[in-house]
Amino acid sequence: MSPVVVTVTGGAGQIGYALNFRIASGAMLGADTDVVLRLLEIPQGMKAAEGTAMELQDSAFGTLAGVEIYDDPVAAFAGTNIALLVGARPRGPGMERSDLLAANGQIFGPQGAALNAGAADDIRVLVVGNPANTNAMIASAHAPDIPAARFNAMTRLDHNRALGQLAAKTGQPVRDIRRVTIWGNHSASQYPDIFQASIGDVPGASLAVDRAWLSDDFIPTVAKRGAAIIDARGASSAASAASAAIDHVRDWTAGTAQGDWTSAGIPSDGSYGVPEGLFSSFPVTSDGEAWQVVEGLEINEFSRQRIDASVAELAEEREAVRGLGLV
Ligand code: NAD
Ligand code: LMR
Repeated sequence: MSPVVVTVTGGAGQIGYALNFRIASGAMLGADTDVVLRLLEIPQGMKAAEGTAMELQDSAFGTLAGVEIYDDPVAAFAGTNIALLVGARPRGPGMERSDLLAANGQIFGPQGAALNAGAADDIRVLVVGNPANTNAMIASAHAPDIPAARFNAMTRLDHNRALGQLAAKTGQPVRDIRRVTIWGNHSASQYPDIFQASIGDVPGASLAVDRAWLSDDFIPTVAKRGAAIIDARGASSAASAASAAIDHVRDWTAGTAQGDWTSAGIPSDGSYGVPEGLFSSFPVTSDGEAWQVVEGLEINEFSRQRIDASVAELAEEREAVRGLGLV
């Protein structure tokens, strides 16, 4: 079997530095799948990318079939099977992710066009760079020959953060927590929903009875975790973001576990009243090929209001990038 070609943009950045080694080690696609890893950088990042490539070689990973470095997106994406679009400016203290719209939005149109020009027929794209949902929409809009569903925005970090908070509250191991959902935008408006969850033997709905904890503790802790990390580290999350990207692509390509689901930002088909075409986070399962939205969940009034608020923000972001001529 020929190696899978994986292109990481921002390959020399802090997420890239954590991500490359996990991909090369087989954590993303499995121990039997060889990978050619391509790092795409801007010219100023090329030297650091060369250093990373040297370290990847020095790690002697059994599944790493080669490392290539590019500063041209068209060349970097030619024949690519999986693209992780990480390269973008991170926010600093006091900024919202949407403050990055104008600066980072410019990156994703040309990259979408470059993917359209030459990526492999089975291309899958995960957008990590912020604001991830709207950047995914921009990239997809510039790639008319690639089905929109092949473009995802990463909300798996939010999903994992929710699992971490629930494990800490209940003392249950993360592996026994199921059916948590992140709805909406990867922003402070996101809605981490536990009404369908089970935490060990405990239904999430029974934890949700404590509305003060749910509204004033759990939801804001998950939704504002990115800012808390920036505050504490002086830089935005990196290793956990890389780990979430690995989880996202692994579940997308290998399939999700029976009886569970995960969260991903995907183009809405109108499910749960989310306007078509917005890249919103949903509860999803994968059969190894494509995500399917988990349909038929009962959405109570508490959840409805919060989903609608986050989706309204996505619609505003779409208007903003339309105004900027980015879509
Ligand atoms: P960083 O500044 O450390 O690295 C970004 C890298 O991207 C740099 O090396 C830079 O040279 C490169 N780059 C910039 N423009 C590029 C382009 N056009 N093509 C290729 N490379 C380019 O930033 P980071 O901490 O690695 O974060 C990257 C992005 O990921 C930020 O936008 C951040 O907000 C976002 N992020 C998203 C999530 C999420 O859950 N979706 C989580 C964490 C961070
Ligand atoms: C995160 O959630 O950690 C990232 O999106 C970085 C940020 O700006 O919050």
